[in-house]
Amino acid sequence: MYDFDKAIDRTGTTSIKWNFQYDFHGKADGLLPYWIADTDFPVANEIIDAFKKRCEHPVFGYADPLPRTFEAVQGWWERRHGWKPETEWMFMPCGVVTGIYFALEAFVPKGGKVLTFTPVYDPFFAAVKNSGHTLVACPMDHKDNYYTINFEKFEEELKNGVKAVIFCNPHNPVGRVWTAEELEKVADLCVKYDAYLLSDEVHCDYGLTRPYTPMGKFTQVHDKLIVYTSMAKSFNLAGLVSACIIVPNEEVRKKLRYEFDSRWMFSPTDFAFTAMDAAYNHADQWMDEVCEYIKGNVALVNQFCAEKMPKIGVTKHEGTFLMWLDMSCFGKTSTELTSILAEKYGIAVGDGSHYDPSTEGFIRFNIGCARSVLQKGLEAMERCYKDLVK
Ligand SMILES: Cc1ncc(COP(=O)(O)O)c(C=O)c1O
Repeated sequence: MYDFDKAIDRTGTTSIKWNFQYDFHGKADGLLPYWIADTDFPVANEIIDAFKKRCEHPVFGYADPLPRTFEAVQGWWERRHGWKPETEWMFMPCGVVTGIYFALEAFVPKGGKVLTFTPVYDPFFAAVKNSGHTLVACPMDHKDNYYTINFEKFEEELKNGVKAVIFCNPHNPVGRVWTAEELEKVADLCVKYDAYLLSDEVHCDYGLTRPYTPMGKFTQVHDKLIVYTSMAKSFNLAGLVSACIIVPNEEVRKKLRYEFDSRWMFSPTDFAFTAMDAAYNHADQWMDEVCEYIKGNVALVNQFCAEKMPKIGVTKHEGTFLMWLDMSCFGKTSTELTSILAEKYGIAVGDGSHYDPSTEGFIRFNIGCARSVLQKGLEAMERCYKDLVK
């Protein structure tokens, strides 16, 4: 049994979440942080033990994964997610977002259309724009605090020449864990209109109300598919800056690898591979327990809001440790509300306008912390609610 109830104060560490709070400007130090997507949970003992053992060998040169690390990833996906990707399909660079940039570079002609379903993780927007491509935002339908893909709109955009789709499963920030039916429709439409499907599955181990389905199960899309995975979210190891990209088609894989290799961007550190081996082989129990704990945190947010802040729309949460709250009842823009919560009430939350510039009044709330810390965040929000919501 792991103790996730123990509140861990990360001030004084290099944590971005705790040190560079509130929109990166450091405007208000000492805030309780509920923004950037890492958790405050201690890493599994199995991983810490593996680090200690690795340190018994005193040399830390350039590193490359051994076959056992690919097998560890393969074993985890087969055991936990019912999909067995071939080890040759994988490569392990330094980060998912970089891998998205390079795929856009490799597979989309300059200025080409790249679609994503909004609201969504904001670096997707930056990746498209900074690559000189054209962003096609495909707003999801939003009804009764629940988001769904508007497939008609999606198909219309594909018909208009979309070259690539950046997909997020489970979805950050709206917390959807897409059903197999929804995923297959996305896959089929990408095949029909010959669009690359960049499937970001970094939140895959946090399918809370239903297990996540890997896009790789839909073999019809394999020639167009790039799957992004990582241990960063799953095991709270974002600081190790690593990823595992899975590309079934050999030509696509070679082209994407070339983007990295030609820029001399090779593997992450030995510590990343040490952690992957330990996590994917031995940390099943930690993963099960942390998901149970987060489910308890989701229940607390739902209950607290229903009882004390009933005008907040809590998006129905299926997965991830990030909740999406409709706080339009405060009568403020997302940016105003984020500032007020930081400056007057001492909490740092994610400004919803980053994830969807076209809607206002939303915040992203990171619930990956001890329940007592979550309670403090909710109480701060409640004070603001009492002051502003009539
Ligand atoms: C959906 C999603 N993709 C990618 C990342 C970041 O991945 P990386 O740090 O490996 O670039 C995050 C981090 O929050 C995320 O939520």
